[in-house]
Amino acid sequence: MSVSGENAHCRGTLHRPMSIHESGDTTFVTRRAHGQIPGYLMGLVARTGDDYIHFVAVRDDARGRGVPRRSYEVFAAPTAERGATALKAITGPHNEGSIEFRRKLGFEMTHIDDYGGTGRARLIMRRRPLKDFPAAAMEPW
Ligand SMILES: CC(C)(COP(=O)(O)OP(=O)(O)OC[C@H]1O[C@@H](n2cnc3c(N)ncnc32)[C@H](O)[C@@H]1OP(=O)(O)O)[C@@H](O)C(=O)NCCC(=O)NCCS
Repeated sequence: MSVSGENAHCRGTLHRPMSIHESGDTTFVTRRAHGQIPGYLMGLVARTGDDYIHFVAVRDDARGRGVPRRSYEVFAAPTAERGATALKAITGPHNEGSIEFRRKLGFEMTHIDDYGGTGRARLIMRRRPLKDFPAAAMEPW
């Protein structure tokens, strides 16, 4: 998948083998009719409390077409039925794409200066309800 700059760094740190192995059953891949994969979502379903979006990504040339929003809908539908409290995601305070995308989907942001004692700031993003995202037309392309 072609992603660039900070996004490539983001991909490297979030694609650790443990994440891939442990979220296999709750990872959703979007596939076009001719087989190309424009994007995917890796999520983790908690036994109680919040369900977690670990990583969502879309190819540079497939952005702005609602692919990740649709992935959120697919991930969140059974999660909401199960009674999870919220959808949650975490990002760095400088990842503008991630922040603006989640803001558009109705996530609320909480800034933590020293996340988990790491000395690094993080934005904790939560959304309730878990489904009913703003409508998006999946444009054919
Ligand atoms: C974040 C990302 C998944 C968004 O993909 P996308 O294809 O643009 O998302 P969508 O088409 O579903 O956009 C949904 C809404 O968010 C908005 N949005 C998305 N990226 C935005 C940005 N950088 N700045 C402002 N708004 C943005 C869109 O305009 C759209 O709003 P609209 O409903 O008013 O049209 C994509 O940019 C990406 O893969 N980034 C690299 C990986 C990453 O940072 N992932 C998030 C951290 S895990």
